[in-house]
Amino acid sequence: MKLTVIYWSGTGNTEEMADLIADGARDAGSEVEVKSVDEADPRDVGACDVLALGCPSMGDEVLEEDEFEPYVASIENAIKGKKMALFGSYGWGDGQWMRDWVQRMRDAGAELLADGLIVNEAPVGDDIERCKSLGRLLAAE
Ligand SMILES: Cc1cc2nc3c(=O)[nH]c(=O)nc-3n(C[C@H](O)[C@H](O)[C@H](O)COP(=O)(O)O)c2cc1C
Repeated sequence: MKLTVIYWSGTGNTEEMADLIADGARDAGSEVEVKSVDEADPRDVGACDVLALGCPSMGDEVLEEDEFEPYVASIENAIKGKKMALFGSYGWGDGQWMRDWVQRMRDAGAELLADGLIVNEAPVGDDIERCKSLGRLLAAE
């Protein structure tokens, strides 16, 4: 089983989540590749069994617009039936960006394996286990 984790992170919080999810998946025996979105290619979608995408809430409850949004748009036609999970960090909002993103990926036909995982700012305390646990869940696919 190969998990690919692709993320954007401005101040490192979503990157920490990506690394924790990867740790959980590796501990459960999965092969894992973690990439910042600037290193990602649309072909990465087809080259893994499960795809985890991570992006914080930016703008006004939207995905980061310069790199991550174009990447998501570039794969939207290729994710029908894809096993996926979404995650990201947020600040002052109520998680609307994640609800919108989950709906968008479902509308594109993705099979979301878990609720979108959101963490307020940096992962601390229980957040760490929530991230690792998502990794283990994805590794079980
Ligand atoms: C330009 C900008 C816009 C943001 N917009 C939102 C927002 O609409 N809602 C929210 O909850 N947090 C917002 N945030 C807060 C970030 O989502 C939060 O700080 C998050 O932890 C950043 O994750 P990162 O360290 O992975 O970049 C914004 C932050 C920045 C810098």
